[in-house]
Amino acid sequence: MKHPIVLGLQYGDEGKGKITDSLAKQSEWVIRFNGGSNAGHTLWVNGKKLVTHSVPSGVLYSHVKNYIGAGCVLDPVSLKKELAEISQSGSALKGERLRIDSRAHLTLPIHIVLDAARESGSKSIGTTRKGIGPTYTTKMDRCGIRVGDLFESGIQDKVRFLCDTYNAMIRAQDLSESSFEDNWKVVELAQELLREHVASDPTPFYDIAKTHKCVLEGAQGVLLDLDHGTYPYVTSSNTLPSAAAAGTPFPLSRLGAVIGVAKVYMTRVGSGPFETELDNEDGERIRAKGGEFGATTGRPRRVGWLNIDELRLAVRLSDCTHIVLTKADILTGEPVVKALNKGSLKEFPCWKSIYKDDSRTALSAELESYLSYVETEAGAKIVGVGTGSDRADFFWRGETPDFWA
Ligand code: GDP
Ligand code: IMO
Ligand code: MG
Repeated sequence: MKHPIVLGLQYGDEGKGKITDSLAKQSEWVIRFNGGSNAGHTLWVNGKKLVTHSVPSGVLYSHVKNYIGAGCVLDPVSLKKELAEISQSGSALKGERLRIDSRAHLTLPIHIVLDAARESGSKSIGTTRKGIGPTYTTKMDRCGIRVGDLFESGIQDKVRFLCDTYNAMIRAQDLSESSFEDNWKVVELAQELLREHVASDPTPFYDIAKTHKCVLEGAQGVLLDLDHGTYPYVTSSNTLPSAAAAGTPFPLSRLGAVIGVAKVYMTRVGSGPFETELDNEDGERIRAKGGEFGATTGRPRRVGWLNIDELRLAVRLSDCTHIVLTKADILTGEPVVKALNKGSLKEFPCWKSIYKDDSRTALSAELESYLSYVETEAGAKIVGVGTGSDRADFFWRGETPDFWA
């Protein structure tokens, strides 16, 4: 058996959470492999909204176990809040239902101070200010704190060394330090919160992947990839399918379909190039209709037309086998729909309705013809279309693929 990876083909917020949740129904494990509390994945079920940040989007199914891989970073304060919200939604994530790799790195107050300091300078990236970049920095610098360290005797020394090393840099910039005591408080919180969830088995998926259906859930998107995205306006982790193998103990040969999620238009939060950006009333209208405000920070998202040149690049970089195009409903009734392809902006007649008729068994001719154009030009089949925010608002174009073949 092979297992699908769900990832974003644009600048994040494509609707990965919703697709992951729908695949979770048939799965036994949902596994996150990158990012941390910078992610915000929205799930709507029967009028109730839940946003996952560090926790995988398999939370709403009680039969699903969720795994946070070593490639992720974890902020204990943010996780505590997230677990409380999940619990309020009626889905308690006790012990076995949430496993956290003991090798994942912790985001502590000092990382958040470093992120804010870096962002307040003249070359800001427009980060989520969740301490993500600095957490990956201290990981690479080999002085980060891992989940497993919390339960070892040398933990005090490690936290002290981290604070001493990085406070020296903070002091050099005349900024206020993050005290050992502030960081230690979060370490103590983490010791209490994480104990029941720690997974130290180095190769759990070697056997699990033979018989149990898994979904690997990416955060951010291909164009925000640290190496292949629009550097320096990127996140600090890899977002391509290879990160699913690097950031988890999941056997490479068991990774299969790559389900790339893209919006029918585009959004971006934070700084960086955006060729098709609509900095006008069209952009404002689509932002309002699409509710384009960050799920994590609440920031208004920049909005623009679909860039098929970038979509083709993302399909190639990710070796995407199936595209899911979300938010088709948001453009319904627009005078025209536009997309950039081979360097020029093209215009298409927009669909007046998603479906051909009330039977909802086929898409309208205009939407079908637009989808055919996009998939041919992008180089991967559009297998499904998002028709609204609820779990049920989805149309499989043709037979539902078997993603675990
Ligand atoms: P993620 O980070 O990729 O999981 O995406 P976000 O949750 O940050 O942003 C996607 C937003 O679009 C959320 O508000 C979703 O509820 C919503 N959404 C996802 N798919 C659709 C769709 O097909 N139509 C509409 N109207 N909303 C959608
Ligand atoms: P999901 O998983 C959209 C963006 C930030 C900023 C850049 C770097 O919900 O799709 P960081 O805090 O990671 O150092 O910020 O990356 N960014 C996201 N944009 N969706 C996300 O996650 C994002 N995670 C980070 O806005 O431009
Ligand atoms: Mg999001």
